[in-house]
Amino acid sequence: MERPLGASGRLVVISNRVPLPAKDGNSSAGGLAVALEAALKQHGGLWFGWSGRTVDQVENAPQIIEAGKITFAVLDVHRKDFDLFYTGFANRALWPICHYRLDLLQVDRSQTEGYFRVNRTFAEALAPLLGPDDTIWIHDYHFIPLAAELRRLGCRNRIGFFLHIPWPPSDIASALPAYGRLQNGFTAYDLVGFHTKQDADNFRQCLLRENLGFPVGDGEYQVGGHRFRIGAFPVGIDADAFAETARAAERNPTVRRMRESMEKRRLIIGVDRLDYSKGIKERIESYSCFIRSNPQFRNKVVYLQVTPKSRSDVPEYKRMQHQIAEQAGWANGNLGEVDWTPIRYINKTIGHMALAGLYRMARVGLVTPLRDGMNLVAKEFVAAQDENDPGVLILSRFAGAMHELDAALLVNPYDTETTAAAIARALEMPLEERRERWRTMMDRLRGNGIDDWCQGFLDVLTSGKSPVPPPQEG
Ligand code: F6P
Repeated sequence: MERPLGASGRLVVISNRVPLPAKDGNSSAGGLAVALEAALKQHGGLWFGWSGRTVDQVENAPQIIEAGKITFAVLDVHRKDFDLFYTGFANRALWPICHYRLDLLQVDRSQTEGYFRVNRTFAEALAPLLGPDDTIWIHDYHFIPLAAELRRLGCRNRIGFFLHIPWPPSDIASALPAYGRLQNGFTAYDLVGFHTKQDADNFRQCLLRENLGFPVGDGEYQVGGHRFRIGAFPVGIDADAFAETARAAERNPTVRRMRESMEKRRLIIGVDRLDYSKGIKERIESYSCFIRSNPQFRNKVVYLQVTPKSRSDVPEYKRMQHQIAEQAGWANGNLGEVDWTPIRYINKTIGHMALAGLYRMARVGLVTPLRDGMNLVAKEFVAAQDENDPGVLILSRFAGAMHELDAALLVNPYDTETTAAAIARALEMPLEERRERWRTMMDRLRGNGIDDWCQGFLDVLTSGKSPVPPPQEG
C-alpha cells in the first residue's frame, strides 16, 4: 500500500539509535527497524539520530551515509553531554518515571538541562536537512522536546511522536520536576502515539490535570491554537516470518547444543535486557518457589535466562548486574544437584535465529516485566511455537502485550506464589488447552503485524484521520 505522504515529501525517522548499514551490506536490524526501513524505502527517506559515538570535540554537521533509497544522517554527541542526556536524564529520570519507579528517580538539574540542550543540538543539525513536504516521525523518550525545538526553528511540517515505553498516571509523571516542560514539548506534535489505550489515557489525564487545553472530538486535543491527536498503536511482529525462522532454526548450532544438553528435561525460557523493569529478580524468586513447592519437577526442568547487559554506565543498572548474578548463584547453590543446574543465567546476546529456535524448543516462556510498553519477546515466543505441540506463555499483566495476548497465563509478577503455581500449571497443561490458547494468540498476532503498526501511525499522521482504538482494548 502506498503511503499518502506529500507529493514530493519524504519520510524522516528520528531515533536515538540508528541501524546503520553494515560494511558488508548485511543488516542486523530487528523487526521494528526493518519495518521503518521498508516505510523509508517506499518514497525515499531520511533516518536521523545518534552516531553511537561520544567525542570530546563535536562537529556540528551530521555524518551522511547514502544507502540506496535511504539516507542516514548521524550526529556525534559530546562525552559530557551524553552522560547528562542519556546516562542521566533519559535513563535515571524519564525511564524510571515511565516505568512507575518513583523510588529510582534521580533529580539532577544539570542532567535535565543536558537533555534539553542535546535535543536543541539535534534539532539544529536536522532542520537544514528537511524539505517543506517531509513527514517527520520521532521515536521514544530521548527526544520528547525535539518537535518544539524544530518548531522554534520554523519547521511547519507534520510531526508525529511515538513512545515505545509506558506513560504513567499524572500523579507519578508529575513527580518529575521537568514535567511541565515535557508536557509543553508534547503539544508541538501533530500526533502522539502510545502502545496501549491505557498509556494514551494516562497521557490525556496528564494534559487535563495541567489545564493544558481540552479534548475536541475523537482522539483530538486542542492546546492554544494548535490541534493534535493522541492514539494507541500497538506494535506487532511479522508472525509468519518469525514462525518460519523458528522452524528453520532447528538446525542452528546453538539450538542443537542446547537440545543435546537438555537430556530430556523441559525448557523454561526468559529473554530480557538486564533492566529492573523486566522483573528478573522477582522471576528467579518465583522459579525458586516453584521448585521448592513442586519437588516432582526437580531435575526435570531447566530455566534458561538470557540477559544481555544493558546501560552499564547507569548506576542502578550496574548494581542490578551484581544483584541478579548473586541471586542466580544462590538459587543454584541451594536448589541444584551434582547433575542439575536449575538456572542457566547468561549475559550474552544470542542471535535472532538461535533465539527463535530456543523459543520453539521451550515448553514455557516467562515474560514477567513489572512494567513494559509492549514486550515483543512475548509475541515472538508465541509465533515461534510448533502448532502441533505449542509451549505456554506466562505473561505479566503489566506488559502492554497482555491486551492482545490475554490467552496466555496472566500473572502478577510481584506475587511469587501465584507465578510459581502458573509455572507448574503451564508444565502440566494438556495439549488441547495449549493448542487452543496458542491459536487464539497467533490469530491476534496475524491480525496486527508490524507493517499495520507503521502504516496505521503514518495514515493518521498524514491524513488527519482519527486514530482507531485497538480492538482488544475496546
Ligand atoms: O524500549 C525502549 C528502548 O529505548 C528501545 O528502543 C531500545 O531497543 C531499548 O530500549 C534499549 O535501550 P538502549 O538504547 O538504551 O540500549
